[in-house]
Amino acid sequence: MSNAKRHSSNQLRQRLPETLTADEAARELEALAVELSVYDAQYHGADAPTVSDAVYDALKRRNLALEQRFPQLVRKDSPSHRVGYTPLEKFEQLRHAQPMLSLKNAMDDDEVAEFVRSVRKFLGTPEDVTVAFTAEPKIDGASLSLRYENGKLVSAATRGDGAVGENVTENARTIPDVPQVLHGENVPAVVEVRGEVYMSHADFQALNERQLAAGAQPFANPRNAAAGSLRQLDCAITARRPLRYFAYAWGEMSNLPSDSQMDMLAVFEAWGFRVNPLTVRCETTAALIEHYHKISDQRAALGYDIDGVVYKVDELALQDRLGARSNSPRWAVAHKFPAELATTVLRDIEIQVGRTGALSPVARLEPVTVGGVVVSNATLHNEDYIAGVGNDGDQIRDGKDLRIGDTVTVYRAGDVIPKVLDVDLRRRRPPARSPQERRRLLDTRQ
Ligand code: IVH
Repeated sequence: MSNAKRHSSNQLRQRLPETLTADEAARELEALAVELSVYDAQYHGADAPTVSDAVYDALKRRNLALEQRFPQLVRKDSPSHRVGYTPLEKFEQLRHAQPMLSLKNAMDDDEVAEFVRSVRKFLGTPEDVTVAFTAEPKIDGASLSLRYENGKLVSAATRGDGAVGENVTENARTIPDVPQVLHGENVPAVVEVRGEVYMSHADFQALNERQLAAGAQPFANPRNAAAGSLRQLDCAITARRPLRYFAYAWGEMSNLPSDSQMDMLAVFEAWGFRVNPLTVRCETTAALIEHYHKISDQRAALGYDIDGVVYKVDELALQDRLGARSNSPRWAVAHKFPAELATTVLRDIEIQVGRTGALSPVARLEPVTVGGVVVSNATLHNEDYIAGVGNDGDQIRDGKDLRIGDTVTVYRAGDVIPKVLDVDLRRRRPPARSPQERRRLLDTRQ
């Protein structure tokens, strides 16, 4: 997209949908469709996103708000109808026996309460009757559907566009958490288990150190490392990557071995899968939100990335009655953690020498809470943030170099190590100095 076009659509985005004319809304919807398809391709196609999840989600919600205000303008290529991405041609394509759906998001407690109300209303549940839900972490990885016939793993597919995914069967066979054969008796003839492939923080860090030592590009975060490792044409590469798998859903089943979500997870466990231990059954909205806070409190210590909590109607007969919208079930919602962006002040920049000898600039920050974790250091992952420091007059990042005292945006989504995302030049005050300038001043004062 040209800069001019992006600029004008950004200006429109700041206005409430009610204040836009149909022409303006149509232009913005077009820009959003293009922009979101670029981010989808970067995220899913290349496993290399350029915007944070928070920014992506905000654009998706803006698109939906405009579509709700101007239903006649919903585009054929609307981002709201898209699940995932077009599968890469380099992989054989596999059509899912049942579509792999996405989840609708709830951003706060009110939206969770609204979800529970909408479920009860759809079902016509009387006030004195309980509808139970499960609550479990939303794992930040790559979804994978595993098909077993007569108890044996026969195929594995990524989500792809929701209808057709990539055939990654041989790759999936290298993941220790993926059983090749299901344990136990009475395993249905056809079983499709769905879940998330992910990488632990410790494994991710070790992998990136190996990548750097081998002169290869490090991965941006554990999710990209997991998705990139799963989608390798050479499954010997996948086998060397420390991938893990949690089972949490299913597709085609020749018969259902249980009648509740919670029991299905117990059955999966008995068959040999790992299921997330933080899954509970709740009977009220307050209990769901309490569990959300419990998971959120444990988040930093889990050792793997999660980006919210998923609530699902527990009783499978009710799930069936609720059914699905075009790309998400009515019986589930993802309660997302708040945006992991925060603004703080840059105290200093230090150059760190890594174990491999690589030099990396580190920002020392005024401590700030980002997504529930106190952050006082961040990487300056792109060296051009400070490349011009000390060379007065150099234009770097369109003049957006970093100076001590600057107000910066820090980002932590999905990442183990926080990053400095941007600098707010409007808030730069005259004493803001480059570290070299500051040291020079200190030296002359001594
Ligand atoms: S349930 C029909 N449960 O989130 C519902 N999804 O935005 C199927 N995810 O594509 C999904 N953790 O990749 C479910 N505990 C969990 C999950 C989970 C992560 C991912 C999954 C899905 C995406 C939806």
